[in-house]
Amino acid sequence: MTRCLLAIETSCDETAAAVIGEDYEVRASVVASQIDLHAEFGGVVPELASRAHVELITPIIDQALAEAGLAGSELSAVAVTSGPGLVGALLVGIATAKSLALGWGIPIVSVNHLEGHLASVFLADREVPFPQTALLVSGGHCMLTRAPRLGTYELLGQTVDDSIGEAYDKVARYLGLGYPGGPVLDRLAATGSDVLHFPRPMLNDGYEFSFSGLKTAVVNYVRKEPAFVVADVAASFVAACMDVLCAKVRRALEEFGDPALAIVGGVAASPVLRVRAQDIAAEFGSRLLIPPQALATDNAAMIGVAGWQKLAAHGADGMGFGPEPDLRLTFS
Ligand code: KG4
Ligand code: ZN
Repeated sequence: MTRCLLAIETSCDETAAAVIGEDYEVRASVVASQIDLHAEFGGVVPELASRAHVELITPIIDQALAEAGLAGSELSAVAVTSGPGLVGALLVGIATAKSLALGWGIPIVSVNHLEGHLASVFLADREVPFPQTALLVSGGHCMLTRAPRLGTYELLGQTVDDSIGEAYDKVARYLGLGYPGGPVLDRLAATGSDVLHFPRPMLNDGYEFSFSGLKTAVVNYVRKEPAFVVADVAASFVAACMDVLCAKVRRALEEFGDPALAIVGGVAASPVLRVRAQDIAAEFGSRLLIPPQALATDNAAMIGVAGWQKLAAHGADGMGFGPEPDLRLTFS
């Protein structure tokens, strides 16, 4: 029988558990979103997130095991996100993972959430070519990297201010559209047009990104034009974001000619980005690697894949690790 591990993800506002085979088959993936809890505040409230993780983590793990049809004692390892993220939220997942691993007498492996997102492409496509150009676009990050091989990263550029998900969330909050902003702005954008021509910050400046000025441009426009058409604001904002992301990705494919293009992180759930990425990959003859839409946003299945990869490359961790809120990728 294929060996399976239990993966746990609690770095932000999703309490998630998954059972993943060594062949990356998803035997179960359960995600309990705390969106409703944080919606009235327009963003994640760390203390509320930690408390909700404490309440949800055990039932979510039980559900994942039940869906996989496995008892804890039949598992081969536990993988858990150790950072980056909210310290209290991470702590809940780590403490739970350690006690389960100790109780079941199986190894534990800590996973970098960003490596989890990068590993999410294996959930769509088990044969993943290298080298890759990888765009990681989430609520906390916006970076363009290259991976010459599995587990080795080179940084091409990242945002100098807001991440793209953050810009989506702030613009949505300003427009009174709730949290998270990505899905709602995408939906509205599909019904409007890019008629406002918002700036495309740093479009021609290498590989770095900036979204704070774009967000301010949207806010200034809305303040000046009380009769604004919300669908057109959304469409114009999304078009500006996409133009910037796509320009950087094209530049990287032009410069490095990698055979694979990975697009990962919560914003990779955007239907607009998925279509545009497909077009760019086709244009450069690269294979597009993108997680299934439901596994682009935070989940534990991607942590499970990264957990198997880390176990294979470096073996298990001891019990000494703790939360690392500012954990980064190590660049060569
Ligand atoms: O990866 P993720 O779930 O959490 C972090 O690691 O940060 O990303 C969350 C971000 C949020 O900012 C949310 O607005 C954005 O992903 N997002 C989207 C979509 N779904 C979620 N952005 C654009 N289009 C979407 N459909
Ligand atoms: Zn994430």
